[in-house]
Amino acid sequence: MDKVQDTIDILKMYNQEHIIKLIEKLDEDKKQALVEQISKIDFHQLKELYDNTKKEIEIKENKIEPLPYLDKKKLSEEQKEEFQRLGEAVLEKGEYAVVTMAGGQGTRLGHSGPKGTFKLDVYGKGKYLFEILAENLKEANQKYGKVIPWYIMTSKENNDETVEFMEKHNYFGYDKDSVRFFAQSELPLVDINGKLLVGKDMKIKEASDGNGGTYSSLRASGCLAEMKEKGIKWVFIGGVDNALLKMADTILLGMAIDKKVQIASKSIVKANPHERVGVFAKMNGHPKVIEYSEMPEKMAEEVDNDGELKYGEAHIMCNLYTIEAIEKISKETLIYHSAFKKNSYISEDGKEVIPQEENSYKFESFIFDAFELFDDIAILRGKREDDFAPVKNREGVDSPKTAKELYEKFWNRN
Ligand code: UD1
Repeated sequence: MDKVQDTIDILKMYNQEHIIKLIEKLDEDKKQALVEQISKIDFHQLKELYDNTKKEIEIKENKIEPLPYLDKKKLSEEQKEEFQRLGEAVLEKGEYAVVTMAGGQGTRLGHSGPKGTFKLDVYGKGKYLFEILAENLKEANQKYGKVIPWYIMTSKENNDETVEFMEKHNYFGYDKDSVRFFAQSELPLVDINGKLLVGKDMKIKEASDGNGGTYSSLRASGCLAEMKEKGIKWVFIGGVDNALLKMADTILLGMAIDKKVQIASKSIVKANPHERVGVFAKMNGHPKVIEYSEMPEKMAEEVDNDGELKYGEAHIMCNLYTIEAIEKISKETLIYHSAFKKNSYISEDGKEVIPQEENSYKFESFIFDAFELFDDIAILRGKREDDFAPVKNREGVDSPKTAKELYEKFWNRN
């Protein structure tokens, strides 16, 4: 009983009285479940996140410059070999682990299951995105004689389905004992007045807290500790939706070692000013990615003296870290970004409301916001046709059709 009263007090304190009416109407089991869920919400943080939605993003006040990079195709043979030698040694010693971020919902793609379970229609038979990733890792395992531990980040929503899918497909021939799943955390959604939403299941509506949650979830799940026990020195973190993602690029790894940096990333040249990719920059002396959704139009279109986009190095979610870097980031709180979305909810009178327009904020941290915690990053410019075949939209750009073409072209060439 006390717990219910405590919850009511908290809800009053944070202007969430509309939930109290709903709690009072619930049967005992549902009431307990809701009270339990509410007791875990950090209302102070939520209020701060909501207040931030009212603030403008001020890029102007900061000193922004382009970030230097090395172009893979311009490296001398000697330099390439040296990087490769350094990178290969790490893989051969079994000091390399890979994380796949597969917690996203793939709403834009219109696929109902976890994104990795999407089948790309390649070579007649087709391949699942998880299968393509597994093949990429198996190739490296064979080359370097070690099995790379593979950590797959899921969300609370898609974890069971992801695990079942991998089981059903026998991990696409990957050593099952070297695969570990961990779920990322969630944050409540709030409406335009900062009020929590309740769903049809009579629970507070929550959603994954963005791929920036990878670091803290690695720690909370015990995966980071496990990596340390295994003697892992370098960790690759990549997305689930790039059919040409190279997860064990020894040149990228060797370059990071040679440059003595804690983080490294592969870029490609942005196709046009409005391509939906983040771009690398330096802000107040620290590495940064400016996300497409937050990039001022003028800045996106700016060109340098050679007529190239000034901010044209695209972030393709091909990121590499020392284990120390992961450890450091996992203890920090990254900033949150808000996205305005449509979400149905149960109103105070118990009826479901399906909004016609965006009505609520979802809060997400971004994987690359951690880069700012470092003084330096090593960027290797790769090639779009070798490194980037994203599966994002149902049709048009970055769709299954474009990814299939890029994937088949690459494998017909190689
Ligand atoms: C992302 C990058 C963008 C980059 C582009 C390249 C972010 C925030 N943006 O944009 O800079 O140029 O890819 O393709 O990363 N995910 C989770 N949990 C979440 C949200 C996402 O695991 O809560 C995973 C997804 O499963 C996916 C990846 O993160 O593997 C990217 O997420 P998505 O939201 O699709 O990013 P984009 O908008 O495409």
